[in-house]
Amino acid sequence: MKFHGTMRINEKGHLEIGGCDTVDLAKEFGTPLYIYDEKKLRETCREYYNSFVEKYENAMVLYASKAFLTTAVCRIMEEEGLGLDVVSGGELYTALQADFPMERVYFHGNNKTPDELRLALNNEVGRIVVDNFYELELLDALARELHCVPEILLRITPGIEAHTHEYIKTGQIDSKFGFTLSNGQAMEAVKAAQEKHVSLRGVHCHIGSQIFELNSYVHAVDVMMKFIADIREETGLAIEELNLGGGFGIYYSEGDEPANIEEFADLVMQRVHLKAEEYNLLQPMVLVEPGRSIAGPAGSTLYTVGSIKEIPGVRKYVAVDGGMTDNIRPALYQAKYEAIIANKAGLEANDIVSITGKCCESGDMLAWDVKLQEAEPGDLLLMPATGAYGYTMASNYNRLTKPGAVLVQDGKAELILKPETYEDLIRNDVMPERLRKSVRLKSIG
Ligand code: LLP
Repeated sequence: MKFHGTMRINEKGHLEIGGCDTVDLAKEFGTPLYIYDEKKLRETCREYYNSFVEKYENAMVLYASKAFLTTAVCRIMEEEGLGLDVVSGGELYTALQADFPMERVYFHGNNKTPDELRLALNNEVGRIVVDNFYELELLDALARELHCVPEILLRITPGIEAHTHEYIKTGQIDSKFGFTLSNGQAMEAVKAAQEKHVSLRGVHCHIGSQIFELNSYVHAVDVMMKFIADIREETGLAIEELNLGGGFGIYYSEGDEPANIEEFADLVMQRVHLKAEEYNLLQPMVLVEPGRSIAGPAGSTLYTVGSIKEIPGVRKYVAVDGGMTDNIRPALYQAKYEAIIANKAGLEANDIVSITGKCCESGDMLAWDVKLQEAEPGDLLLMPATGAYGYTMASNYNRLTKPGAVLVQDGKAELILKPETYEDLIRNDVMPERLRKSVRLKSIG
């Protein structure tokens, strides 16, 4: 198993993260528990900041908050000089509650509601990334009503789809996101925006997630810079911002080979520079929106092992006290993870097991056929690299409570998210008067 960030084995043979023994963390906070390695989290933010913002004049890094967001995470991102990509009123509200600088917030989404747009406009978010003609109309009406001129980007579907090792040039007409480039819709949107009560500052694209192939970004730059040149040609408008979205891949399991962030920055920035010269354009500000690569490797999930079922000659199932409710990625995307028995971290991983959750569903699997130390009930099992899209996609299926999260650093652990309680589960339940037990008993009587 790959060790991420500050993970190490201590003198007791236990796995330690941020100087905290995971066995002690389990005792203090219970399991399942999301553990965030603050040093690793900040290191990746800095790597992005230094590679883009420090090194180049006109660049900005936005953290894609859909990967993992709490108010404390907002504060860390602010301290590290990043902006924030939000996609809903809820994410925006979280940023507002953390007093995140609104001018650094970019509001995405393919179906923002009038209320969400109102919340964004009333709080003067930096940019609204307009996805479609309906939204353009809606924004125009709201902007007139609220007497403001929102600064916007247009989300473009550039006809490139990249996943992991490959990218394909598709017509990409079949996407729910953005204005299609290939059929002229994108240019139509630019012209429409010029007529509206908005200020068109830039264009945006997002070509996929968990991407290892840097060339797919180079290709995206080429397509988008050509579009920026076409915009100037057709409308005279100078596009000032090019947002290339997120998608930078991370290591989950054997075979994953993430590229280097600085290399990514150099490649993209130099390509933009080259294309700006080629088309005789002013170099636009370049933005990237990493989510997974910041939150993912910094987070792990700690579980307690319960039942173990061995089917001789077939498979050994090791069940933990969480599952698809705290990490739906294996069930949803067949995502692969590694695992370690945290209280036996110093021992050899000689067993091949499948890790399952506690939900009433056969598909509730966390890992198939992974190497693990010999597990026994009561052991602690840790899955690394679960920091992105684990908690944010968590559910209460089977009325399981969502785990809490701690931030660990230098031997200290602080809660940034309380574990849910049973009371939390029924907090929003409402009992109609006629169904109340006392009333019912009375009517029966
Ligand atoms: N910007 C935009 C416009 C996006 O749509 C996304 C992700 C990002 C940035 C951040 O991408 P990242 O750097 O995290 O790859 N739930 C899926 C991932 C969905 C990503 C959707 N958009 C998963 O668990 O793999």
